[in-house]
Amino acid sequence: MLVTQEPVFRRFWYPVAFERALEHEPIHRRLLGEDVVLWRAGGTVNAAPDRCPHREARMSAGWLCDDHIVCPYHGWEFSADGALAKVPQLEDDAPLPSRARLGSYLCQERYGWVWVCLDDEPLGGIPELPEYDAEGWRVVPEYEWMFECSAPALIENNLDPAHVAFVHKGTFGKGVDPRIEVPSLERTAYGLVRRNKIAVAGRPGEDEMTERDTTTEIWAPFMGVFRIGYPDGLVHIMLKACTPEEDGRTRLLQQVIRNDTEADRPAADILAFDDKVEAEDKDVLDTLPVDYPLEPTQQFHTRVDRPTLELRRWLKELTLGQWVPTNEPVG
Ligand code: FES
Ligand code: FE
Repeated sequence: MLVTQEPVFRRFWYPVAFERALEHEPIHRRLLGEDVVLWRAGGTVNAAPDRCPHREARMSAGWLCDDHIVCPYHGWEFSADGALAKVPQLEDDAPLPSRARLGSYLCQERYGWVWVCLDDEPLGGIPELPEYDAEGWRVVPEYEWMFECSAPALIENNLDPAHVAFVHKGTFGKGVDPRIEVPSLERTAYGLVRRNKIAVAGRPGEDEMTERDTTTEIWAPFMGVFRIGYPDGLVHIMLKACTPEEDGRTRLLQQVIRNDTEADRPAADILAFDDKVEAEDKDVLDTLPVDYPLEPTQQFHTRVDRPTLELRRWLKELTLGQWVPTNEPVG
């Protein structure tokens, strides 16, 4: 079985879209192989299976009418909780088929994203981000990128400083020494934390050698919070949600939080830089096999691959039920 087919992954919260994508019409997303429709009604966002119970048309191709989502095929209307509210071919007082529900998934808005959990009993939680919307910090919402690789391969890439000098030789890895320290990695209640320092050849809008001192939190299973400190006091926090759409296909949603201002570094520079960086990763990651190996004996490793091995050990324990996350704040 491919890693992302493990049932435990259905029990986590995943960002599936930016809130800004949900202004007027329902939208379609995939999550762990399920088609999901998202829409906003009465001020809240809602998520449901993207199949009308009548003839299974895609609800995401429909529209909104008052607080109802309307199926594009025969116009059946459903309320925010997924109950059938109207069949336009019938008189208003006619009884409706009581079991014909659209259904619903758990859904909430946090940090500018729409989060969905496919299971009614979620494990773990949503990361604590004290800097988000705090005084002295600004948020730079970024993009969504599609990767043709598995979600664990994408989160692994973000824990792996050994690729920087090669994959990112067109951006921040240009001319940097490929010899790296072995990063330290620890388990936490919510997942993993890694601390490492690496030399880099630049940062958004600047081409100068500097050093990144990064604390990386991996919130189970595939959400990364990277707090990158630079010697001049700039802190650049990257939120990277690696949301598994299906086996071998992952949606990366990304935002940045910084303690500087638009005048110090325009958001456009940050977006342009990160777009290039993600394209560099995508060129390699899209060529990896769909099947992500959890066994250490699959593939070969050196001592600098310690974070990768620990990630795989931890994911294996998660899939076997030997490790269960809690949503305790960062300690
Ligand atoms: Fe949705 Fe008929 S398929 S109303
Ligand atoms: Fe990379």
